[in-house]
This record gives sequence, C-alpha cells and structure tokens, in this order.
Amino acid sequence: MTNQLESLRRHSVIVADTGDIDSIARYRPQDATTNPSLILKAAQDTRYRRILQAAVAAAGSRSAAGWSDSVMQHLFVGFGREILALVPGRVSTEVDARLSFDAAATEHKARRFIELYDAAGIGRERVLVKIASTWEGIRAAERLERDGIHCNLTLLFSFAQAVACADAGVTLISPFVGRIYDWYRKSRGVEDIAPADDPGVASVSRIYEYYKKFGYRTQVMGASFRKTTQIIDLAGCDLLTISPDLLQQLEAAAGEVEVRLTVEAARASGVERTPLDEPTFRWQHNADAMATEKLAEGIRAFDSDARKLAALVAALPA
Ligand code: E4P
Repeated sequence: MTNQLESLRRHSVIVADTGDIDSIARYRPQDATTNPSLILKAAQDTRYRRILQAAVAAAGSRSAAGWSDSVMQHLFVGFGREILALVPGRVSTEVDARLSFDAAATEHKARRFIELYDAAGIGRERVLVKIASTWEGIRAAERLERDGIHCNLTLLFSFAQAVACADAGVTLISPFVGRIYDWYRKSRGVEDIAPADDPGVASVSRIYEYYKKFGYRTQVMGASFRKTTQIIDLAGCDLLTISPDLLQQLEAAAGEVEVRLTVEAARASGVERTPLDEPTFRWQHNADAMATEKLAEGIRAFDSDARKLAALVAALPA
C-alpha cells in the first residue's frame, strides 16, 4: 500500500523546506527552500561546519569593507550548491530581510547571488531568489524576472500580496499556511482550528483559484505547515514545501491522498479580477491585521536570525 508522501507526489511537486542537507538526500524532493532561520539551524550543526569554513575562505580578508555581507552571501550560496547536488530542480536562496523596503538594494543582492552561483557553474534556471513580498520586494522581482532571474516571493500572507506578485510576473510565491494558522489560533484563543475552517489553507486555495482562473503563470507553493492535514488539504497545489518532520509523518502514514485543488475547478469558479495599483495594494494589505502583523514580524525574525548567523560565522577561527 502506498503512503501519503508517495501519493501526494502525484498531485503536487514536493519541495524540502530545510537547510539540513542529509534530510534532503533522504526525501528526494524536486526542489528545496531555505531561509535565514533554516540556515542558522543547519549552521549550528557540526556536519555542515565545512560550508561555513568555505564561506569564510571565499570572503577573503576580514578587515575588508563589507566582509560580513560577503561571507553571508557565500554561506547561503554554499548551502545552495550542496543542496543542488542532491535535488534535480531548484533551490531558493533568500535576500537579506533588512533590504525588504529597498527595491534597488534587493535587486543588487539578488544579482550577486546569481553571479556567485554562476561562478560555481550553476545556471540561473536552478535558483529562485527569495524576496519578501513587500511592495518594494515585488518591484525588485519584476525587474529581475525581466532578466531571466527567477524569484520566489516569500512572507506572503494577504491576497493583495498574491495579486501584486502575479501582476509582476514573478515565477513563484510562498503563501505561509502555518503562520496564518498561528495568528488565528492566538487571536481566537484556541489550541487548534479544525481543518475545514483553517484560514491558512483557505488563503492558499483562494490564491490558487484566482491564479488559475485568470491564467497567471506564477506558481503557487504552499509553505510553513504545522500539521499534515494542512498539506493534504492542498493536494494539487503547484508545489508544497514541507519540513523534514512533516515529510517523515506523511511517509509513515499509509493511504491515498485525494486531489483538492484543480485547474478545472478554478476555471469554473465565479471569482472576479482584482485590479491593484500601489495605493490599493497598500490599503488592502493594511486592512488585513493578520497579514500586516505577520509580514512585519517575519521580516524582523529573518533579520534577527541573519544577525545571529553572521555572529556565528565571524566567531569562527580564521
Ligand atoms: C519557506 O519558504 C518558508 O520560509 C517556511 O516554510 C517558513 O516556515 P515556518 O513558518 O515554519 O518558519
């Protein structure tokens, strides 16, 4: 009898949400996603100390201006390169969260990632540059995509963010199911929310329906899962990025997973187009308390973990 992970592979592209390279080898995903928090966790594991040491060596003299930025970029790309040796598809590598409100600086950093991958013989088609879904991040992604640099727009919580990303022609978005669920659980003061009422799952389903109805090419990758029911309820979504512990739970559970999201059902829906300029984007996003708080908190947390990571690397012996 099949298990839920194998069954799910028939409906959605499975992506590993981790910096733990050994887990990626174990679950055979198509792609893998990283973020500063995941890289921080992996960087504390002695198995991956060699990647930190290689980044320090590649960044050159510690007294040079910009050494810390340089070593971080080499480190993220170092993890990405090892991951790409194991997956057939793409790796997502995230731009510094502190640049989330600076389109030009975000674009510059993204291009530098692509240069570093290119120098390692890795083409841009195997990389998704991960950028926060702020208005400025979306504008940077729009320019990068025009040059064939593919972007994964992350920290996506509101429908307005999803519409703006599709209009900008970005390759992929990562709506955060679990963090939406966390916010509603907290605001309702409940331990759990039943699957049929899960606001994170509902958010991704709505975005998927909108994209397919209007024929957008932007792919939807459900992210940030807390439990396997959230993943199963999105079977059929273009991609699903899943942490190793949930991959393990899906693999351990026997049974078939039924498809929930289909292009045909989305096309048949009566959803209407949402026109969105900058003021409308800002207004609609701001009207969503969950999305506003979770985007701000997510940017702060990625920045904080990136700083911890920089300190960890700076403390390594020369
Ligand atoms: C992946 O793209 C996201 O960064 C990740 O799924 C976030 O998950 P979390 O909410 O568990 O941190």
